[in-house]
Amino acid sequence: MLIFETKFCALRKAPFQNFDKIGMSQNAKPRSERSSAAGEVIIRFDEVSFEHGPQKPILEEVGFSVRRGMKVTLMGQNGAGKSTIFQLITGAAKPESGAVHIGSDIIVAISRQVIPRDQLDLTVREFFEKCFDKKVYDIDPKIDEVLEVVNLKGHEKMHKRIIKSFSGGQQARLLLASALIQDPDVLLLDEPTNNLDKAGIAHLTNFLVNYKKTCIVISHDADFLNAFTQGVLYLDIFTRKIEQYVGNYFDVVKQISVRIEKENRKNALLAKEIQENKDKANFFAHKGGRMRLLAKRMREKAEEMEEEKVDVRKEDKPIRPFIIPFQEDLIGEIINISSFTTMKNHQPAEHKAKISMKKNQHLLLSGPNGIGKSTLLKSIAKGTVGGVAIARGVRVGYYCQDFSTLNFDETVYESLVSAMEKATGKKDDEFIRAIAASFMIRGDMVYSKIGSLSEGQKGLVAFARLVIQKPGLLILDEPTNHINFRHLPVIAGALNKYDGAMILVSHVPEFVSQIRIDEILDLEK
Ligand SMILES: Nc1ncnc2c1ncn2[C@@H]1O[C@H](COP(=O)(O)OP(=O)(O)OP(=O)(O)O)[C@@H](O)[C@H]1O
Ligand SMILES: [Mg+2]
Repeated sequence: MLIFETKFCALRKAPFQNFDKIGMSQNAKPRSERSSAAGEVIIRFDEVSFEHGPQKPILEEVGFSVRRGMKVTLMGQNGAGKSTIFQLITGAAKPESGAVHIGSDIIVAISRQVIPRDQLDLTVREFFEKCFDKKVYDIDPKIDEVLEVVNLKGHEKMHKRIIKSFSGGQQARLLLASALIQDPDVLLLDEPTNNLDKAGIAHLTNFLVNYKKTCIVISHDADFLNAFTQGVLYLDIFTRKIEQYVGNYFDVVKQISVRIEKENRKNALLAKEIQENKDKANFFAHKGGRMRLLAKRMREKAEEMEEEKVDVRKEDKPIRPFIIPFQEDLIGEIINISSFTTMKNHQPAEHKAKISMKKNQHLLLSGPNGIGKSTLLKSIAKGTVGGVAIARGVRVGYYCQDFSTLNFDETVYESLVSAMEKATGKKDDEFIRAIAASFMIRGDMVYSKIGSLSEGQKGLVAFARLVIQKPGLLILDEPTNHINFRHLPVIAGALNKYDGAMILVSHVPEFVSQIRIDEILDLEK
């Protein structure tokens, strides 16, 4: 494994304009001294409110701060607004009210949750050039330097390669490298472990443990986060506030449950006293005369105590248990794989296989990033690969790693209806809304365009489609990406119970361990 080098080329982006200048004394120092001097507040949210349109309030008068050198986790439900907070920090989004203060001369760089679709056709060189406002001369050596940090080998030929030709795990590394090349003071990582294999996650964890500068990380991987986190910012989807905690994820869970218990206890105590006051008030009210006045006071007291009751903190909930129904009319073999292709050292390699899958068989495809798992799954799903035969009439449900099977211009409603039409030809408004709601797409959000959903919400819509579609063959490529960890046992439960033929790729062993696997095809062997 590489030893990490965190001193990069001194490329500078113009510092953020229009933000208040804080931490001036530190910033007057030379850069080398600045990075080692930890402590002062370099990011501060001051009563920040933000909404994606009137129907989608995200933050309400949120305040928090981050000190230089801190490693912080940003947590919250899918669609709560974590990525939006990153946009507010980088200046890509502006608050409705309140202010976001970034220390002057502080460079913030983000490793985004996914590569936007319009950047997938860029070459590697163009992709990195886009990280800067100004033209950067002689960028190639700098690209190679950061690619080495993320465990990718850069070379002349690679700089001309198109981004979409890289595997999901390799794209995750490119995203991280695109932030590092900016030599930031603050590194924002949005779900950086998605698609990474075991070695990739270990490499990234090691990098972050040794990283000396400020970073804020969004991730649903508790073990990964706990390796380096010193504090947690918890975005509460119900109150739209940020709660700030010291410690790692497990500390936070403990602190939250202690708080909820305390709030419940306080309310129970108040409820008891209120009842006692009401009982006494009733008793005195019947006595007449002066006693009535006493009864009135007691009622007022009970009302005052009612006001004192606290809103108990609501916990984020997992999605409801669900099943993916199996296409009922299938008998016999569903899929036969007699040969397949992998990529080894950038060269395709042909392999013979003898895999015949009937209903109720679960196959796990394993192998490191870049070996060709997704390419194989994609061509199976499309039915375009030699050596793989899918029985006639089998409906293929395909959960794609990059959600490329979802039409981003459709609304959630349209997307679910289209899955339904393929399946049964039946249209049923109530049914669609109920399924959407069970995947936490509630109310008017069914009329949101898929493209405007958060990444986790896109994943949940993809699962809702599978439920409606009732596939005979289920193909799942990294189905845990972006999805809140609370939902993962529920999803694992649904896959475990799936009665059709299933081919799964997942780099999350804890998730896979909850699913019945009948056969493993290791592409590396
Ligand atoms: N450009 C946009 N237009 C309209 N709505 C948006 C836009 N971007 C995000 N949203 C909505 O704002 C909410 C917050 O989205 P955001 O991507 O910040 O969530 P998140 O916490 O990062 O979720 P995830 O864990 O799924 O990545 C979601 O309901 C999403 O649908
Ligand atoms: Mg997000």
